[in-house]
Amino acid sequence: MKNILALYSSINPDQSQSSRLAEQYLDEVQRHETVSIIRRDLSDGSVPHLNSQEFVTWNTASEERTNEQHKLAELSDALIAELEAADMIVMTAPMYNFGIPSSLKAWIDRIARAGRTFKYTENGPVGLLNNKQMIIISSRGGKYAGTPMDTQTDYLRDVMKFVGVTDVSFIYAEGLATATIDDSLERALQELRDMAQTAVI
Ligand SMILES: Cc1cc2nc3c(=O)[nH]c(=O)nc-3n(C[C@H](O)[C@H](O)[C@H](O)COP(=O)(O)O)c2cc1C
Repeated sequence: MKNILALYSSINPDQSQSSRLAEQYLDEVQRHETVSIIRRDLSDGSVPHLNSQEFVTWNTASEERTNEQHKLAELSDALIAELEAADMIVMTAPMYNFGIPSSLKAWIDRIARAGRTFKYTENGPVGLLNNKQMIIISSRGGKYAGTPMDTQTDYLRDVMKFVGVTDVSFIYAEGLATATIDDSLERALQELRDMAQTAVI
């Protein structure tokens, strides 16, 4: 059975367009395959901003950690374990103030860990995650895909590539603040339906 990790990051989970599209995609995938889905809602405060104590813990050998440090390491360890177990990652990425939600950034700060998901070599950094597909559903009030104002796409593609996830597809639901909202959502949904036919490796 294939494992899917679904990451939600809208601050409005109940009305979120990106979350709704992700759920529709997952429904569609389940019509074709038996999958196990882990859902993680990053908007609920469970993944706070990274701080120095936690970062120092990662670089402290397990046998030298204090009890408090063992506790501090649990969050990143759990998020990395979820990611490692996933064959596919479905990430929602609403555009907030020309970037990604800060909760999603806090997740990235937890999973991009030297020695765990990437390592430095003589030839530069190498990602340690392999054989994963990823779909990123980006919802936006405006329209920025393909323009220099789309600060999400290159960033998310680069950071996921950094940890070894190179098979990344983007679905954009744009112009959601305008009258074309239904067209945009319908187009995004159709693209996701097409992808669901061949979704999981
Ligand atoms: C705090 C905040 C900041 C936003 N900033 C932008 C922005 O910079 N550019 C944009 O196109 N839309 C912006 N929007 C609109 C959202 O991208 C849009 O409502 C999108 O549907 C949010 O995704 P969601 O429906 O999954 O929550 C912003 C919305 C919020 C709540």
